[in-house]
Amino acid sequence: MITSSSSSVRTGPCPAHLWIFSSIGKKTIVALTGIALILFVIGHLLGNFSIYLGPDAMNLYAEKLHDLGPILWVIRLGLIAVVVLHIYFTMLLWKENRTARPQKYIASDPIKTTVFARTMRLSGLIVLAFVIFHLAHFTVRVVDPSFQEMHTLLDGRRVHDVYAMVIKGFSSAPVVIVYVVGLFLLTFHLSHGIASLFQTFGITNSRIRRNYECAARVLAWALFAGYVSIPIAVLVFGLGKGVGQ
Ligand code: HEM
Repeated sequence: MITSSSSSVRTGPCPAHLWIFSSIGKKTIVALTGIALILFVIGHLLGNFSIYLGPDAMNLYAEKLHDLGPILWVIRLGLIAVVVLHIYFTMLLWKENRTARPQKYIASDPIKTTVFARTMRLSGLIVLAFVIFHLAHFTVRVVDPSFQEMHTLLDGRRVHDVYAMVIKGFSSAPVVIVYVVGLFLLTFHLSHGIASLFQTFGITNSRIRRNYECAARVLAWALFAGYVSIPIAVLVFGLGKGVGQ
């Protein structure tokens, strides 16, 4: 005989659903998707460094990526899913925190934490806007439609001239300013984001945590220096001068 309690067990949420929407589940998902995005940012920078090896190296790297065909689309969809999950679960956590503390903080409360949380959301949104601009700029190529017509020969094959596109893109001071500001906010977001990973994963020893947080800031600023070096090398130091003009 099926009792009412056994039928409610059968129709209730499964343990995975309960865990995912628990506080720790949401924090873990934000942390894991954050780690995936950091790995992408590191990998993308290493690929972009091919610009310093010259046009053929950068175009070959871009061509190898495009040659992945359907696998590239799986990676792209995975990346979009990771971004959506990161934002969605961050918003759920924010809502949960607001519901748990509906009243405004009194003066003695840790103001630093609220300012920090608010800045993370704002910097996250601006980074998202920057990435959308970046995709319109270099992937969809609608910011400067002349990018669509840039082609070159690579081992006898007609390929898209990514090198010329990046050089032309960063020959414009306003565009470089947008990138430097976007990258600065990305660094700000990453440096606080990586540091709070250690809290999520339960590293409570304050000395160890301080060391990890320091390492997180060094990593975030090293990424900033690496990324910003490219537009600055083009605009200020004339990298690839004459290409794509
Ligand atoms: C100086 C900085 C950067 C340069 C020079 C750069 C360069 C490029 C180029 C050339 C492409 C197009 C590749 C192609 O389709 O042939 C691209 C795509 C992309 N970039 Fe960047 N990037 C920079 C910063 C960033 C940052 C900071 C992020 C993320 C936070 C980012 C995320 C992406 C994404 C998601 C794509 C699309 C990849 C795809 O086609 O699937 N980029 N980037």
